[in-house]
Amino acid sequence: MSKLQKARAAAKRSSTDPFRPKFHATPSTGWMNDPNGLIWFGEKAHLFYQYYPYAPKWGRMHWGHMVSTDLVHWEHLPVALAPDQPFERLLGCFSGSAIEHEGRLHLLYTGVSALGGQQQCLAASEDCVDFAKRTKPVISNKQLPQGSGKYDFRDPKVFKRCDLYYCLVSAAANQNGVRGRQIACYTSTDLVHWQGRGAAYTDSSAKKGIFECPDLFSLDGADVLMMSSMHFYPPQEEARFQNLHPSVYLLGRFDADTCRFVPEGEYNELDYGFDFYAPQAFTMPDGRTILIAWKQMWKRSIPESRFGRAGAMTFPREITLEAGKILQRPVRELERYRADAAEHTDVIITEESSLSGVCGNCVDLQLEIDLSLAKSFSIRLLKGKEHETLLLFDTERNICTLDRTRAGVTITSSEETDVNVRRAKLGSSCMLDLRILIDISSVEVFINGGKNVMTANVYPDANDTAITFAAEGMGVIRKLSCWPVLI
Ligand code: FRU
Repeated sequence: MSKLQKARAAAKRSSTDPFRPKFHATPSTGWMNDPNGLIWFGEKAHLFYQYYPYAPKWGRMHWGHMVSTDLVHWEHLPVALAPDQPFERLLGCFSGSAIEHEGRLHLLYTGVSALGGQQQCLAASEDCVDFAKRTKPVISNKQLPQGSGKYDFRDPKVFKRCDLYYCLVSAAANQNGVRGRQIACYTSTDLVHWQGRGAAYTDSSAKKGIFECPDLFSLDGADVLMMSSMHFYPPQEEARFQNLHPSVYLLGRFDADTCRFVPEGEYNELDYGFDFYAPQAFTMPDGRTILIAWKQMWKRSIPESRFGRAGAMTFPREITLEAGKILQRPVRELERYRADAAEHTDVIITEESSLSGVCGNCVDLQLEIDLSLAKSFSIRLLKGKEHETLLLFDTERNICTLDRTRAGVTITSSEETDVNVRRAKLGSSCMLDLRILIDISSVEVFINGGKNVMTANVYPDANDTAITFAAEGMGVIRKLSCWPVLI
C-alpha cells in the first residue's frame, strides 16, 4: 500500500474511534506527541505538535498544526513542517518553540540527520500556514556545548528579554568524565545568528538521558525552568517520580546577562498521574499562563491506535504560583460548554452510593468533601459492570491513589514499574477540594485547587458511565456540581 492509501485507510478507521476525547486536542489520524511552538499569535492560540501522519506510531517527525480561539475547540491546519531537508533526513523535525519576530511567526525546531545529528533550525511564515525553512541549521553541531554528543542536542525553546533572543537547548554534559545533563543557552538579535553562552543549567546527578523539552518562563514574579526529565530518579519514593520520565520544574532566577539559571529549591513534579510529558507554557493576551502537555508516556500500549490515531493533549491548564508551588486549573473557557448541573449539598457517604444526575463520560465535576470522620474515601469513575477508575483518599497517610487496573482495556508497558497505579502525597487537611474532568478516555484530577494533579488515559466501554462514592467511616460531600460538557 502507498503512504496515501495507508493514510486513507487510517482516516476510515479513525471515524469509528470510540476512545476519541471530545474536548481534548487529538490528531485526526496518525501519531501525536509533544506540543510544540505554543503561542498566542494573530488572535489565535497555535498548537503545533510532533506528528507522524501516516500511521498511529512514532515515525519521521512532522509538525502538525491546530489553532483555537477558546482553547477548547481546535481547528486543524495543514502540516506546518515536513521533513524535506538534508538536515532532517533521518528522523525529521523534532520538538521546538515559536516566537514572533518582525511581525512574522517563526518556529525553532530540531532537525535530525544521520551525519549532522541534532541541530537547531528555523522556519518562518507570513500567513501562519506555509512555513519557509532556512536552508541551513541556525545552531549547528559545531556550536555544541563542550562535552555533549551530537545525538542529544534538541528541543530549542526561544524567548525574548530586553531586545535579545535567548534559546535554551537540551544536551548531555560531560564534566571530568562524569556524564550529566545540561540546558545550553544561545543568544541572538535576529534568530538566525546565534552565539553560544554556555550552560544555563547543569545537573550531573542523573547518569542516563537528558532534560527534554526545556521551557523557561516567568510566573508571578519567579522564573520557572520546566523540563521533561528522562529517567529521572529511580522511583523509590512511593508517591513521587513514579513515571518513567517525570516532568519537573525548578523555581529560581534566570540572569539575562550571564545566561545562568540559579534554582531556589528542589525539583517539583508537575503531574502525579500516568500520562503527562513534554509540557510547554505560553501566555494569553489577558496575561494568563497556560500549560499543555502530551497526555501520554513513552513505552506504553496505546489502545486507540487500533483506530488509526495515537495520542492526545492534556486539557489546557491555567497555572499560577502559590507558596513556592505551581497550581494548575483547567482553563475557565470550559465553563462556557457546561450544561445544567446536577447539584448536591451535605450528603453523608458511608456505603458505596451514587447521587442522582451524577454520572457521565464527558463531564466536569466539582466537589468539596469533609473527611474529618473518614478513614478513607473513594470515588469510582467511568464505572460499569466490569470496569471502574478508582480514586482513593487515605486520610491517615494523606495519600491519593489513582488506580486504573480495572478501568477497561489494559495498558501495558515495557517499563518495570506498575503503569496502572499512581499515588500523590497531599497536604494534611480534612477538607478535600476536587475538580475532575472526564472526557471519554481521559481523566484529569485537580486536587485542592490544583496543588496536585493526576492525569490518566483509560479505555472503558461506552456505557461505563456511573460515578459512585464510598467511605470507610463517614465522609460528607459538602458541595457537589456535575456538569455534562456539551461540545
Ligand atoms: C520528547 C521527545 C523530544 C523530541 C521528540 C521527538 O517526547 O523525545 O525530545 O524532540 O520527542 O518526537
